[in-house]
Amino acid sequence: MNQDELKRLVGTAALDYVQPDSIIGVGTGSTVNCFIEALAHSGIRVEAAVSSSEATTRLLEDAGILVVDLNQTGGLDVYIDGADEFDPHRRLIKGGGGALTREKIIAAASRQFICIADTTKQVKVLGAFPLPVEVIPLARSLVARRMVALGGQPEWREGFTTDNGNWILDVHNMDLVDPVRTEETINNLAGVVTCGLFALRPADLLLIATENGIKQL
Ligand code: 5RP
Repeated sequence: MNQDELKRLVGTAALDYVQPDSIIGVGTGSTVNCFIEALAHSGIRVEAAVSSSEATTRLLEDAGILVVDLNQTGGLDVYIDGADEFDPHRRLIKGGGGALTREKIIAAASRQFICIADTTKQVKVLGAFPLPVEVIPLARSLVARRMVALGGQPEWREGFTTDNGNWILDVHNMDLVDPVRTEETINNLAGVVTCGLFALRPADLLLIATENGIKQL
């Protein structure tokens, strides 16, 4: 199976966790796009979805799914989203698609965060994937200097603006052996909106697409 087939497999597997007539949280990225497509063809009717990005909102609406604001819904039962990397403790790096802040908010608001990924995203220790950090534009250079002091090599994702009007630094070669501590440290820097570490609030369940089917972690 190639990676696209693995993404379709796990996108379809996530349907088992969608309660009919519920309001679900929906992440961003090509794996989530497979989930949205599977949902659209499944015959499962959801009441509505809370979306983590403008791109996901467009796909949900094209599929005839009502998109509502998180402020209208209160807590959600389930949030389904992908990841750029996951470790054995279900801690993640996210934000390759730049939607990390809304993703983190919806994950925080959800009782169950189900992460859908394939084996190519699996690592023993997070950090091979550059860590996305969303910054207020005014603070780009300041935060970049702080990231260098923390041992990373920040690269401005030039030409990209998040749905929140901010910028992204992709930080290479960060030491992430203690991702909880690093997440707290980076999130406390002035000018940082949030970083793409999901260690304080990891996934509750990982569905991993493998050559031999879906593995759960
Ligand atoms: C977007 C994300 C995505 O979940 C992550 O980038 C994975 O994307 P894909 O499913 O396309 O590999 O965090 O901000």
